[in-house]
Amino acid sequence: IWTVDDSENLSTSYSHISQAAKLLTENEVVAFPTETVYGLGANAYSDEAVQKIFAAKGRPADNPLIVHIASKKSLDDIVTNIPDYVYKLIDEFWPGPLTFILPKKGERLSKLVTAGLNTVGVRMPDHQLALALIKEANVPIAAPSANRSGKPSPTLASHVYHDLNGKIGGIVDGGPTGVGVESTVLDCTTNIPAILRPGGITKEQLEKIVGEVSVDKALVEEGHAPKSPGMKYTHYSPNAPVIIANGNYSFIQKLVNEYKEAGKSVGVLTTSEGIPYLQADKVIACGSRDDLRTVATELYDTLRTFDETDIDIIISESFPKSGVGEAIMNRLLKAAGNRVVEE
Ligand code: TXA
Ligand code: MG
Repeated sequence: IWTVDDSENLSTSYSHISQAAKLLTENEVVAFPTETVYGLGANAYSDEAVQKIFAAKGRPADNPLIVHIASKKSLDDIVTNIPDYVYKLIDEFWPGPLTFILPKKGERLSKLVTAGLNTVGVRMPDHQLALALIKEANVPIAAPSANRSGKPSPTLASHVYHDLNGKIGGIVDGGPTGVGVESTVLDCTTNIPAILRPGGITKEQLEKIVGEVSVDKALVEEGHAPKSPGMKYTHYSPNAPVIIANGNYSFIQKLVNEYKEAGKSVGVLTTSEGIPYLQADKVIACGSRDDLRTVATELYDTLRTFDETDIDIIISESFPKSGVGEAIMNRLLKAAGNRVVEE
């Protein structure tokens, strides 16, 4: 087992690509950076390799994986019946944080990748190290986020190390990922594409290119089974319970005080704007409300930082559900098990 640990920096990473690629071709699993979060990669053609992803993460076998490719033309090796609108979206957003769900082609992909479904998710990540690794391995790479199942996704190599050290072949350290939330998962098996998981590419961005885009009912109201199997699991949970406070800073502070009076040690997830107004045992600014992209970038690291403290509860401010706010609130609500307190 080799690991590119924190003491080694980005400039050493390229020399590790060939080692990492060799491990992939030997059906080992390797973590690598993408523009969204770190992925845990394996040869998508090999049952033996893909099985190791599920084992390392403790991931339920009914949750399919996204296949990562390094060139647009590799799409034809993996999927079929590609609608015209997919090509328009590829031209605009690939490489990038957009995953297409399409009918799978042939029998070559490991059935473990698709969890027995006849569709498969495919994306081309926008990260030089990821693209170099996939090219050198010369096979499509199945990769979920490189965290233990249920934990926040990793946006730093150290997050991967914390969760998976000793369980995987190695980590390619590319420093912090940029987008911070995972790719948008788009069902493209229908005439109108449907968002199954909000992510780095927003509904507004998609609609500009292809017109109408729908959203899986399970994301909008309760009582529907999500079409993306992964969306039904608890996720992104720090050790302490999370509560979302939907109100102004004085409302959030009032809530903090109530928990303090009940003898709890309280953490607050806010933004740079909230810092002057909030006092608690641990207050962390996660980006700026002025630019929700910065909140997305820092969200998972912020959630993980609370795990390094001994707080009993995390109270988070709420974010507008537009643009990338859609993905932020989707992840925060999961982290909170849907506990929201309204002003
Ligand atoms: O940004 C990302 O997408 C990251 C990086 C590493 O690429 N990957 C990622 O993978 O988030 P993962 O496994 O954590 O999430 C994949 C999501 C899950 O919700 C899964 O259920 C869904 O995609 N998915 C995969 N294949 C599917 C399919 N055939 N039909 C419906 N949903 C699918
Ligand atoms: Mg994940």
